[in-house]
Amino acid sequence: MPVLPEHPASEDPPLMAPPSLSGQRELVLRVIPLPADVNANGDIFGGWIMAQVDLAGAVLPGRVAKGRIATVAVNQFIFKQAVSLGDLLSFYARVTRVGRTSVSVHVDVYAERDPANLHVVKVTEADLTYVAIDANGRPRPLPLPT
Ligand SMILES: CC(C)(COP(=O)(O)OP(=O)(O)OC[C@H]1O[C@@H](n2cnc3c(N)ncnc32)[C@H](O)[C@@H]1OP(=O)(O)O)[C@@H](O)C(=O)NCCC(=O)NCCS
Repeated sequence: MPVLPEHPASEDPPLMAPPSLSGQRELVLRVIPLPADVNANGDIFGGWIMAQVDLAGAVLPGRVAKGRIATVAVNQFIFKQAVSLGDLLSFYARVTRVGRTSVSVHVDVYAERDPANLHVVKVTEADLTYVAIDANGRPRPLPLPT
């Protein structure tokens, strides 16, 4: 059984997903893709990965905004390695910018694979921006931090 480091010192992928990583990255989502998420090549469909990243990316901005938010931009999205059936995906997010109405985040996605020879690889990284919105869907100022 791999040892779980409490506070990994480097940016290396952890063997198992700890609740946080270096660089104030917080575990916000874990999910396993299903056969329905496979593309014609037999890998996991990129659009499915993007949807999961959008969900994961919204967690920290939702806390900052303390209410409704909308994704305004996917500023960067990199598929570094294909995701395969059987991978266990862990999504780590950190806030990179807090503006007047918007919050930007960086999301790193790691895949835990091959239980017989367990290892972890970084498969995706992305930068996204979310806007706090009011009941009419218009931008609203972020609340002051408490
Ligand atoms: C999100 C939305 C309400 C923003 O309205 P808007 O009139 O474009 O807002 P603004 O131009 O005032 O920009 C609002 C904030 O977004 C930021 N923003 C806008 N475009 C951006 C971009 N491409 N990248 C990064 N930030 C961006 C602005 O800098 C501003 O942030 P700040 O107040 O912290 O400085 C509107 O664009 C919208 O409804 N979009 C559709 C959202 C949606 O359906 N998303 C998918 C499902 S959640």
